[in-house]
This record gives sequence, C-alpha cells and structure tokens, in this order.
Amino acid sequence: MSDAVKAQYEAYPYPRRDPRDEARRLVVGSPSHLAEVDHYLFAGRRDWRRPFRALVAGGGTGDGLIMLAQHLKDRGAAAEIHYLDLSTASRAIAEARARARGLDFIRFHTGSLLDVGSIASGPYDYIDSCGVLHHLPDPPAGLAALKAELAPDGGMGLMVYAEYGRSGVYEMQEAFRLLGRGLDPQGQVQMAKRVLRGVAGTNRLARNPFLTSHKTDDNALYDLLLHSTDRAYRVAELLDFLSGAGLAPAALIEPARYEPAHYLGDEAMRRRAADLAQAERWALAEALAGSLKTHVVYAVARERAGTTVAAPAPDAVPVWRDGDGATFADALRNDVLTTDFDGHPVRFALPQGSAPLIRAIDGRRSLGEIADLLGQDWARFDQRFARVYEALNGLNLLLLTFRT
Ligand SMILES: C[S@@+](CC[C@H](N)C(=O)[O-])C[C@H]1O[C@@H](n2cnc3c(N)ncnc32)[C@H](O)[C@@H]1O
Repeated sequence: MSDAVKAQYEAYPYPRRDPRDEARRLVVGSPSHLAEVDHYLFAGRRDWRRPFRALVAGGGTGDGLIMLAQHLKDRGAAAEIHYLDLSTASRAIAEARARARGLDFIRFHTGSLLDVGSIASGPYDYIDSCGVLHHLPDPPAGLAALKAELAPDGGMGLMVYAEYGRSGVYEMQEAFRLLGRGLDPQGQVQMAKRVLRGVAGTNRLARNPFLTSHKTDDNALYDLLLHSTDRAYRVAELLDFLSGAGLAPAALIEPARYEPAHYLGDEAMRRRAADLAQAERWALAEALAGSLKTHVVYAVARERAGTTVAAPAPDAVPVWRDGDGATFADALRNDVLTTDFDGHPVRFALPQGSAPLIRAIDGRRSLGEIADLLGQDWARFDQRFARVYEALNGLNLLLLTFRT
C-alpha cells in the first residue's frame, strides 16, 4: 500500500460528498446499478431472495456502495455488503451516508484491498472496485486479491481510467510533482491552482474539453492532477489486465460507445470495422472516439465467459435503468433516436412505429406480453425489437430481467 495514496484520501476524500444530501437524491452510476449487475453478471436471473454477499473494494465516500445497498434494500434482498477502504476520512462519510438511509446491512473495514482475504474474506457474489485499481503500485496484484475472494459464479464491476480522454493529465501531474516537492497536500492544491490560472493555451490539459472535474472542488483537483499513483488503460491493456487474473469481460458500459460504426461516416469503412474481432472493434472505437476517460467493465471468471449476459426472449422483462417508456417514446422523432457521445452526434434509426413499443415497456410486462399487447406475432416482434434493443441497451438505458 502506498502511504502517499492513503495520505491523499485522508486529506481529500473523493468524491466530495455531504451525507445530508441523501435526504434529497440517490447518486446513481455504473458499475453496481443492480439492474446492470443482474443483466450482465447473472443473465437477468438472480433471485434476490437468496443471500447475496457483495464487497465494495476502495469504496471511498460511498457512491457505488450506497447505490448498491439502496437498490438491494428496495428489492427486499437478503444482502450483506462489505466496504473496504484505506481512508478513515472517506469511510466516515460513507458510514454517515449509510446511516442517513438506514442501510444497516453494511460492514465497514479500514485497510488495503491487498489484504482483503484477512480483513473481509469471501466468497462474494459481487465485487465492486470503481476507480481504485489504477491507483495501486501493482494493479494486477490488487485484481488477483479480489478475484481470490470472488465466488465461482459471481461477477465484478470495475472502473479504470481510459487513456485517450485523459490527454493532458499525465504531463500536468509531472509538472506538479516538480513544483510541489516538499509541500503538504493543502500546499500542493494551492500550488496547482496558481499554475492552472496561467497555464499555456498550448497545454494539452487546457486543450482537452472532456476534462473538467478538477474545476469542481479541491478534492477533485487532487484526485485528477496531484495523484501520486495513477495509470490509464487502453482497451487492449484492460483485457490483458482482466485475463491475467483469470477474468473475461461480460460488457463494457455503455456498449454503444465501443461500437466503431458510431464514429465512421463511411459505409465501406463501417463494413471493414464490422469484420474485426470484438476486442479489435472495441479498440477501434476507443481510438476513433478519443474522448473515453474511463472504462466501466463487468467481468466474470474466464470459465463463465459468454454465459452471463441476459438476451431477449419471450419471457424476458425489459426494465428501464432510469427513466420511463413515455419519456423515451416522446423523445423519438420519426423513429430516430438522437444523442451524443461527449459532443459527437449519434443517431439510431429504429423500425417504423417504435414509439408504442417503447411506451409499452413498463418494467413489469415481458417481451411476449408486449408483443401480444401490440398485436404482433413473436417472430415479427422479435425482429423489430432487436433494433430497438440494440439502441436502448447500447446506450445503457434498457436492461433485461426474468421473473424468478
Ligand atoms: C477515486 S476514489 C473512488 C471511490 C469510490 N470507489 C467511488 O467510485 O466513488 C479511490 C478510493 O480507493 C481507495 N484506495 C486506494 N488504494 C486502496 C487500497 N490499496 N485498498 C483499499 N482502498 C484503496 C482510496 O482511499 C479512495 O477512497
């Protein structure tokens, strides 16, 4: 464990959170949204009445922890969650947030995830480690320690930094290391702010429109630009990292961001891209997009690869991750769904008359029941739904579950 990393998160817990805010909102994100966990790691068939043990490794101030715990509580799940972090200051905030919501099934531990086996041993059905492993001096050792505590039929939700969208971060970290020698954490922040006020217009951070978090507060500034231990991964490196621990990816979130066709205007080039292997398509999308700052990946033991992701079927129930069918149906214009990826416009042409289908998705009806409601036989419905699903699941708006 690095003392500098611990000292940083004692002085500047990240992200900065106020437990009083729990009264007015739930912070939602990926990984660890329960609908995603069910869809990508348990083929949509997790029975939440069965005991569920989760570990949040490097839980920080509690964003993923609190979301996961609240979702489990909302489902009345028989759950036990273990939180582990180096930083006692972060833990105090996470504990206060849990208290504010009455989430009394979380066990809090202080220490390094490298020692998880002795501090809070598995097996776990689910392990979250979001924004943590890239801060370890030896990330593979950290991932191996977590994998050792994963149940054979469990899964992980990880987030690590992506390289291209972080353009400019590493040279600023280098500059601040040179200028900040001997300063305490508060002194480092003051130094960084003084430098940033007059930074050259040619500087790559100044020219990177995708990075703004350092302007939010001192904690975010420290986390982005003053970190002592920090690396980023290209897709191929991430896949090697997983493979080294005996893991395989179940999905990258949002899936559509990793689809090269969205970044290729030329039809012939789209066809060439479609011929590539999946890992190559992901890498191509990342290289073409240039804006990805993080990779969120759901991963399972190599032996379970390809078996854990839910797929459309008559008895599958489509569920909105957030939002509702009426809102998404109203947003369609002539059956075209438009959005953007960090400012790059993206469009999905859906089959004619998709709005009633989207409106009928209420989180309770199965696909078969929706087909009946719309008066369509399954084969015809299935074909049309596939394109709607590709768009809505690709944007991480729609997931599948099965009644258990
Ligand atoms: C960027 S924060 C992310 C917090 C949280 N996972 C989230 O997504 O909001 C990284 C956290 O990892 C913790 N951390 C770093 N190295 C660790 C280690 N070896 N063991 C446990 N926690 C660690 C830090 O203390 C910090 O709270």
